[in-house]
Amino acid sequence: MTSLSQRRYHITTFGCQMNKADSERMAGILEDMGFEWSEDPNNADLILYNTCTIRDNAEQKVYSYLGRQAKRKHEKADLTLIVAGCVAQQEGETLLRRVPELDLVMGPQHANRLKELLESVFDGNQVVATDAVHIIEDITKPRRDSDVTAWVNVIYGCNERCTYCVVPNVRGVEQSRTPEAIRAEIEELGRQGYKEITLLGQNIDAYGRDLPGSTPEGRNLHTLTDLLYYVHDVAGVERLRFATSHPRYFTERLIKACAELPKVCEHFHIPFQSGDNELLKAMSRGYTQEKYRRIIDTIRQYMPDASISADAIVGFPGETEAQFENTLKLVEDIGFDLLNTAAYSPRPGTPAALWTNQLSEEVKSDRLQRINHLVNIKAYERSQRYFGRIEEVLVEDQNLKDKTQVMGRTRGNRLTFFAGDINELKGQLVKVKITEIRAFSLTGEPIEVPQAVSV
Ligand code: SAH
Ligand code: SF4
Ligand code: F3S
Repeated sequence: MTSLSQRRYHITTFGCQMNKADSERMAGILEDMGFEWSEDPNNADLILYNTCTIRDNAEQKVYSYLGRQAKRKHEKADLTLIVAGCVAQQEGETLLRRVPELDLVMGPQHANRLKELLESVFDGNQVVATDAVHIIEDITKPRRDSDVTAWVNVIYGCNERCTYCVVPNVRGVEQSRTPEAIRAEIEELGRQGYKEITLLGQNIDAYGRDLPGSTPEGRNLHTLTDLLYYVHDVAGVERLRFATSHPRYFTERLIKACAELPKVCEHFHIPFQSGDNELLKAMSRGYTQEKYRRIIDTIRQYMPDASISADAIVGFPGETEAQFENTLKLVEDIGFDLLNTAAYSPRPGTPAALWTNQLSEEVKSDRLQRINHLVNIKAYERSQRYFGRIEEVLVEDQNLKDKTQVMGRTRGNRLTFFAGDINELKGQLVKVKITEIRAFSLTGEPIEVPQAVSV
């Protein structure tokens, strides 16, 4: 029962999976401190915005949310307002000047320190925590959104310097967790009944390069490939995924491991950003479009049915129509199962934002529309290979639009719906015959439902 003095919290999360994973850990810390989740932010005594600044529109969204709650604080003086994540790191104290109602501004590296920071707030301080720190291991159990699939951070930060990107500024240098800590977390998840684990890193192929230990030939002992072998046999876990891959560091050894290890799903998220070599150079990506194509060819040699998804940016400074068409050509040739596209957005503190060859908003949005049109056509084509096939679907939840159906994902990460009762099927791997296809999702009929054991 909730007592009147029970303090309630609400977290709104923007941005990528790293932020979602951080939010789950911060929620765990708050619950440990005695806070209770409030679905409605307007009933909460503590509100935390875990923010994203990858593009300008992501950043602006935060200010409009924040404005509303800052106003509410004038009527409810004991409301605690927190901005965490990437906008917090980017803006730091500037945020306090802009929104003086804020109690705590904390960068992503400080997520695991939330308790200590809040104690200082409750002592009457306004706190800014944005200095670079060594990320401490989790001490609290995260409050995870799903009880079927879970994220596990393996490397924080990014040492790349892509000329458009704020991530290295806001997430700091690469910090790998030890294989032992990662395995221990996955073992615990296996015991709790989690079936699918996604290993997370902004540049996951960099995993381990900051850890001590290498062979006499200088080979790093702690690569992502080694990590996959090391955690693969954890009991209870049926599927392993990882994201995000960087074409510069993606190896054939990793592809072979994925083909060999049965739990690793045949899905690769490898952003290419542009299909034009000059632009790739201007972006400082460290590979050519030919190399990207070779990676995809190699994946398809080992795993002909593998799903490929990626990210791309259109309207990068100086992008000509011909260079944009090289990106379209790559999209046409590869046939992505999914492609996240974005118009280039100049970000503070990044080199490309200062260049004088910026394109107009009209050109950027026209190119975005044209690429999205092609992405839809290609994704629909890719979906067709599923028609009539039998796919293994891991059931995650009810279909919110049709409660007679459940939803889950194929190994290739296609969202799939079929008739069934979530109470019976949650967390089950079900064989489903695909009867309907759409660009980004499928519908099917279960052909082999695991039976509840009757005595
Ligand atoms: N670490 C990943 C991506 C991280 S950010 C990688 O290296 O690919 C997620 C995506 O946001 C990027 O892949 C890129 O497509 C997009 N993005 C990053 N900065 C951007 C910017 N300034 N404008 C538009 N899109 C951007
Ligand atoms: Fe950003 Fe590049 Fe690092 Fe990805 S690899 S997070 S795009 S700097
Ligand atoms: Fe956004 Fe930060 Fe992720 S800027 S995309 S939340 S790393």
